[in-house]
Amino acid sequence: MAFLSLLPLSLSISTLQNPQNFIIFISSFYFTKFSSTSLMATMSSTSRIIALLALLSLQISWLSEAKRWESNIRMPTDKEEQQQEQKKPGDAESDVDGTTWALLVAGSQGFGNYRHQADVCHAYQILKRGGLKEENIVVFMYDDIANNPLNPRKGVIINHPNGEDVYAGVPKDYTGEHVTAENLYAVLLGNKNAVKGGSGKVIDSKPNDRIFIYYSDHGGPGVLGMPNMPFLYGKDFIEVLKKKHALKSYKEMVIYIEACESGSVFEGLMTEDLNIYVTTASNAEESSWGTYCPGMDPSPPPEFMTCLGDLYSIAWMEDSETHNLRKETISQQIDKVKERTSNYNTYTAGSHVMEYGNKSIKPEKLYLYHGFDPATANLPPNRLPIDIKLGVVNQRDADIVFLWEKYERSKGEPEEKHKILKEITETIKHRSHLDSSIDLIGKILFGPINGPSVLRAKPTPGMPIVNDWDCLKSMVQVFEEQCGSLTQYGMKHMRAFANICNNEVSQSAMQEACVAACSVYNSGQWNPSLYGFSA
Ligand SMILES: *[C@@H]1O[C@H](CO)[C@@H](O)[C@H](O)[C@H]1NC(C)=O
Repeated sequence: MAFLSLLPLSLSISTLQNPQNFIIFISSFYFTKFSSTSLMATMSSTSRIIALLALLSLQISWLSEAKRWESNIRMPTDKEEQQQEQKKPGDAESDVDGTTWALLVAGSQGFGNYRHQADVCHAYQILKRGGLKEENIVVFMYDDIANNPLNPRKGVIINHPNGEDVYAGVPKDYTGEHVTAENLYAVLLGNKNAVKGGSGKVIDSKPNDRIFIYYSDHGGPGVLGMPNMPFLYGKDFIEVLKKKHALKSYKEMVIYIEACESGSVFEGLMTEDLNIYVTTASNAEESSWGTYCPGMDPSPPPEFMTCLGDLYSIAWMEDSETHNLRKETISQQIDKVKERTSNYNTYTAGSHVMEYGNKSIKPEKLYLYHGFDPATANLPPNRLPIDIKLGVVNQRDADIVFLWEKYERSKGEPEEKHKILKEITETIKHRSHLDSSIDLIGKILFGPINGPSVLRAKPTPGMPIVNDWDCLKSMVQVFEEQCGSLTQYGMKHMRAFANICNNEVSQSAMQEACVAACSVYNSGQWNPSLYGFSA
């Protein structure tokens, strides 16, 4: 499918908050070639390789570059601002009397997920340059990227095609098996005793302090991924935030989340009375997007076979590092991030940035959360000098793209190529097994006509995906026991389990349906006994 889209000539003059900042941008014609399918589920086993090729040519979205220009006309900075710019958060004479804390979390592992840890390392560097202290930044990352045998630049991680190393200096607070949802909750609550392994660093914040949380990974309805099971469940996370609030251990908190369906982690759960402002990369029903991927525009250096970043994540980070954060507000940044994440309001290969919690925090200046880098003092408060549309890939297809790149680049023995090809077919086979068995379970439970629509049903806007979260977790366990691990791909089926609970199916009925659907399937490497259950 090819679409010719026209982004109309637009003229925008931002006068409200920055009367000195006139921005004129002219957009041009551009072609978008895109397709959104889930062909794999319906393919026979003999056509999987053809399906893979189809996926590569169709499912990836290619957006050609559309350059815009703008001019910034700025007035001389006034004296008061110049004085402010000399200070950093935490400085004794600063207008900020509290400390800024940060919690940075990459929820994935594996070289195919390079981009999530790259995002998080990059975020660390921005905060560090902004003057936040290492003792106040807690980093969760699996740490299997920099020294991965597949990494073309040993010991280095980049988050932009021309980017510098973002790995050096990143503290290894919680790595490998210690990157768990339980540790995340304990760290956020400042509960040193509950932390298992890792550096033991926690968010030991005081009533006047501010906290910035940034998370990047795969997700699904109601859940965020973790490299060690189980997943992070929306209800649990909100409970932890409520506890943190009850401890009166922060003044305000800002949370940025990149994951598929990330809106669903907060929808109907996040209240306005916690002094927390949240934005998510996507709404409760859509994918988020990887970017700087091989073969796209812009593409990573040729030696990279994996995506370097994620669309929402690089949007906020590239915004933060190119502006004076003593002048830019959270609101201005989010407007810009919304625009870039939607791929300039086309949404063809982009997502809807969502906001939850207390929006009165938005007019605050960004340095309160990201710090202030004196080198940015003369940069404008908002707008990037250029806007470039980015090629992107659906988070869930990024690992197939990675495996395919790995296959194509493999120069080894035929056996090695064969091994990679087997890995690809096994991965796709397990995906289609998950899709078809959940479809079958729906038909067994709700009848062949109603099954699919019951499983797909969406909650009324503003309501959480499920009321009984314990039910959701137990249905996931029952399923995995019979049908194998959901994996990061299968997180997308959380909505089905939620709807099974919303329709008050008993656990024994679910058990029977799972046995019927999966008893002949050998889950092999996806047996949950190997890695633990997702719930
Ligand atoms: C939202 O935050 C503002 C500013 O901190 C505060 O005045 C207001 O009471 C908060 N709203 C709620 C519902 O807590």
